[in-house]
Amino acid sequence: MNSAGIRYGGHYNPEQWPEKVWAEDVALMAETGVDLVTVGVFARGELQPGPGRALETGWLDRVLDLLTGVGVGVGLATATASPPPWLVAAHPSILPVDASGVRLSPGGRQHYCPSSPDYREAAGELAGRMAERYGGHPALELWHVGNEYGCHVPACYCDASAEAFRHWLEARYGGIDQLNYAWGSALWSQRYRNFDEVLPPRAAPTFPNPSQQLDFARFSNDELLACYSAEREVLAAATPTVPVTTNLMGLFRPTDGWARAMDLVSLDRYPDPDDPDAHLSAALAADLTRSLAGGRPWYLMEQAPGAVNWRRVNVPKSRGEYRRWSLQAVARGADAVLQFQWRASAAGAEKYHSGMVPHADTDTRAWQEVVDLDAELRRLAPLAGTLVTADVALLLDWEGWWGLELDLSRYRLVVVPALYLVSDEAAAGLERYVAGGGVAVVTYFSGIIEPTDRVRLGGYPAPWRDLLGLHVDEHAPLPPGRSERLSGPLAHPSSRGFRWLERVRLRGARALLTVASEPLTGQPAATVHDCGQGAAYYLATTPDPATLDALVADASGRAGVNPTASVPPGVEAVERGGHLVLINHLDRDAEVDLGHDGRRDLLSGSVRSGGVTLTPGEVLVLAPATPTEPAPKTPSPVPGRAG
Ligand code: GAL
Repeated sequence: MNSAGIRYGGHYNPEQWPEKVWAEDVALMAETGVDLVTVGVFARGELQPGPGRALETGWLDRVLDLLTGVGVGVGLATATASPPPWLVAAHPSILPVDASGVRLSPGGRQHYCPSSPDYREAAGELAGRMAERYGGHPALELWHVGNEYGCHVPACYCDASAEAFRHWLEARYGGIDQLNYAWGSALWSQRYRNFDEVLPPRAAPTFPNPSQQLDFARFSNDELLACYSAEREVLAAATPTVPVTTNLMGLFRPTDGWARAMDLVSLDRYPDPDDPDAHLSAALAADLTRSLAGGRPWYLMEQAPGAVNWRRVNVPKSRGEYRRWSLQAVARGADAVLQFQWRASAAGAEKYHSGMVPHADTDTRAWQEVVDLDAELRRLAPLAGTLVTADVALLLDWEGWWGLELDLSRYRLVVVPALYLVSDEAAAGLERYVAGGGVAVVTYFSGIIEPTDRVRLGGYPAPWRDLLGLHVDEHAPLPPGRSERLSGPLAHPSSRGFRWLERVRLRGARALLTVASEPLTGQPAATVHDCGQGAAYYLATTPDPATLDALVADASGRAGVNPTASVPPGVEAVERGGHLVLINHLDRDAEVDLGHDGRRDLLSGSVRSGGVTLTPGEVLVLAPATPTEPAPKTPSPVPGRAG
């Protein structure tokens, strides 16, 4: 892949514009250094004007030729994300049905049932025709399948979906008795005599069966993934060397386990300019994407250059914010920074969404920021293809992500927040990790149920009682706003626990925090259990930030994890390919000590050392202190541009 540079560009929707604008588009792309655009994501209506008709490719041919002429590569969509009206008219059952039985209408987008045979057939056919027509086009670098699967319709409850759900359940359970056991159907007379009686969890008078809901979430994910995979197979057969992706959405609950079906993992990320902590969730989404990519570089497929159109109040990005999010993505492993979209739409539901080319055109601050970023991304070419250094893993509870636990040993510290559902393999994986000298921090409400959704009995967290050296007898969640006093070795005078407490019996663990107010006085709120070379921490509450810092410092010290750099809160420090990236997310100056060795900042070219002041929003990308071997590069499916 990209061993030459960081790719730059965005979604390009020329079908929304008269042809005379296209020439201006490519001229501006050349001016900004854009070298990769995604084309055709929602263009099915323009490409396929009716059932059985030949594709109308003349316009797309001309667009791709124009792009080729200025050296812009293309992530070509299969255009299956939004069925046009003729397709819905020909096959009304394509339309999805919600849990209340309402059939959704066309007029927006993504109005298809993932289990609809008609939708799947039409999608596969279009993907095949696109591959046949454009598989050999010189601009083609990447296939972009669908768009943000499940974002508007994560599940469909129609009769076709019900039928498919039954088959899925039969394959999973083998027999109806096993399903009845797993779903606990003895409760409320829910026992099924055969699979024909089972339905999706449609709107019900009171609490629906949670195991039925869990299985339906798994099924719905599988159905969406099957839609994507069917297209991918068609493309892979026709163009085996062209990588295939679809745009994931970070911590998006409905989709799980997709990365293994992707040649290149990509992320859509829209940090809220009005959220002072947005850099934290944005970093988490980036790191998650990198993990899904197996640590290898990934693509930022979408971000907004300015405001979005879909928040209640669409706060614009402040000066430099577009640059800061872009550089953060690169610091955390992105090899491409793409935007939604190239040119802001003039009509339709997204007409107030920003674009790289704004409504106000190019004599604007926004355009200048777009142009300036290109120059900076070119300076960061040495980072392309390199790996990010990470000593700490955060274990999330998407099923299918259990591959992580098989390789926990490469991390010094593993954090397991509220891992409610745990398979036997995952439970054993964490035990092995700690036995091998690792340090784990497990939080409350972990290890509670089996994958079947049945509670693991005998005291929580059943699979990790020995590992943690304790038994939890009872959960005691706290009402919003309530907190209890905490004491103990890690407490400060005003330490408090929020959200959750528990009744805990120690069986070898030591208490680090203890509840200091009634009715749970004396109950452990944080513990540590020494296990050979390793240690297992348990957190039975959400402590105030200072107390949490003390716990993190204790666990990090034990694990030998040192901060990438000593920076104040609000300043981000990431290491990629031996480069130290520092980002000041604060609206005030921040002081950072860089030590004695001078390090060259790739962005400004200046050499920095000692105590430096980072102005608000400032970013430094510091080259390794002493000349080192070139940073290891990874192979990439997509070629790059020169720095
Ligand atoms: C994304 C979507 C794009 C565009 C964008 C607007 O979720 O993939 O097509 O709608 O949001 O922010």
